[in-house]
Amino acid sequence: MFELKVIPHAEITTETLNEIIRIKSVAWSYSHSEHMDWINNNLKNTDFHVLLQKENKAVAYLNLVTIEITIDKVNHQAIGIGNVCSLEKGKGYGKELMKLTTHYVLQNNKIGLLFCKKKLMGFYRKHGWKPMERKQLNVTFESFNIETMITNYKHNFSHLRYDGRAF
Ligand SMILES: CC(C)(COP(=O)(O)OP(=O)(O)OC[C@H]1O[C@@H](n2cnc3c(N)ncnc32)[C@H](O)[C@@H]1OP(=O)(O)O)[C@@H](O)C(=O)NCCC(=O)NCCS
Repeated sequence: MFELKVIPHAEITTETLNEIIRIKSVAWSYSHSEHMDWINNNLKNTDFHVLLQKENKAVAYLNLVTIEITIDKVNHQAIGIGNVCSLEKGKGYGKELMKLTTHYVLQNNKIGLLFCKKKLMGFYRKHGWKPMERKQLNVTFESFNIETMITNYKHNFSHLRYDGRAF
């Protein structure tokens, strides 16, 4: 019934962008052109749009960004997850989107990283994401009010560094 569509930003069509903005607008009330500007200014061609389809209709969205992180002085290519949102809350769309996306991250053998509000940690935890302690994290953007979660990194570590853009 559900299907995950993963589209490279380089290949996105205006029609699909409109679908994405329709979903994002439910969660974040910016104008269509503000959403469009954000996407074009913040996503790179190597990033991906992920749409959860239910009977060929997009019902939830997130984006995947290609990032580099350093864990205890070792560099890793990783996947950052951002802008998670659903067309209608409480219908299981978010759950399905995270289940399939986490599977995608694992299948691609990548470490996953996300930033979220404290109240959503339980939601992500159910799909195998683990919270990090603040003292483990070193990022270049303001991260005072957000939590960081990681998946597919099986070892204990003391320090993660991420110098890239916020996502
Ligand atoms: C977060 C969000 C994507 C969840 O999607 P959803 O379609 O409502 O989620 P589901 O219906 O699949 O619910 C999944 C579970 O998460 C819980 N949950 C959903 N939203 C929650 C919230 N805001 N706070 C706490 N728990 C939440 C649900 O109760 C449910 O719990 P269950 O598994 O015990 O039944 C959706 O609420 C949303 O679009 N929020 C606005 C945008 C946002 O804040 N995104 C997060 C950016 S970090």
